[in-house]
Amino acid sequence: MDSYLQLLSRNKSWASMRIKEDPEYFSKMGALQRPDFLWIGCSDSRVPAENVTETEPGNIFVHRNIANMVVCTDMNLLSVLDYAVNVLKVKDVIVCGHYGCGGVTAAMDNMSYGFVDSWLRNIKEVYDKYREELETIVDKKNRIDRLVELNVIEQVRNLAKTKIVQKAWMEGGLKIHGWVYGLEDGIIKDLNVMYDEVENIDEIYRYNNL
Ligand code: CO
Repeated sequence: MDSYLQLLSRNKSWASMRIKEDPEYFSKMGALQRPDFLWIGCSDSRVPAENVTETEPGNIFVHRNIANMVVCTDMNLLSVLDYAVNVLKVKDVIVCGHYGCGGVTAAMDNMSYGFVDSWLRNIKEVYDKYREELETIVDKKNRIDRLVELNVIEQVRNLAKTKIVQKAWMEGGLKIHGWVYGLEDGIIKDLNVMYDEVENIDEIYRYNNL
């Protein structure tokens, strides 16, 4: 059987297993989704949000792109963020990177990988900003992993710089977090960069007329 057809046959056995466990599984799932979280993660196939947090479909609203970036001109990300915050009313937005990220690794070398180069440029900017700290780390793997952490922190800050998040802060109750998942042990590390008010970011990024 072609491997893509296996996806369809596995789907059938998954669906019948769910019904066996709970005959109302899909009728409950068909009702409105009420996720409490927005997850902004890497497209990497090894970091599926629901699996690594042991959550069910319906719990997490998910946006994934290469290297879990928050780019202020990315209409896709902004649409997801606005919908999650203002329509679904999620209370926590999580940027979750992962150690050994291929996107971050690629951004640290001097090779072209095609169209993705422009996307990875945003990570090179993070490297440039933290060059002094990063270049004291001799071991390349450790340097990549530190850049993974710094990149997550910068993406949390990029979230805080959006009008969407600042408006939600005015209304109260939104928290944004930075986490990193470990491919080698499956553990998520909280980077403790939880932001919940506009004071968390530099004044130049604040909107005073929301
Ligand atoms: Co990655």
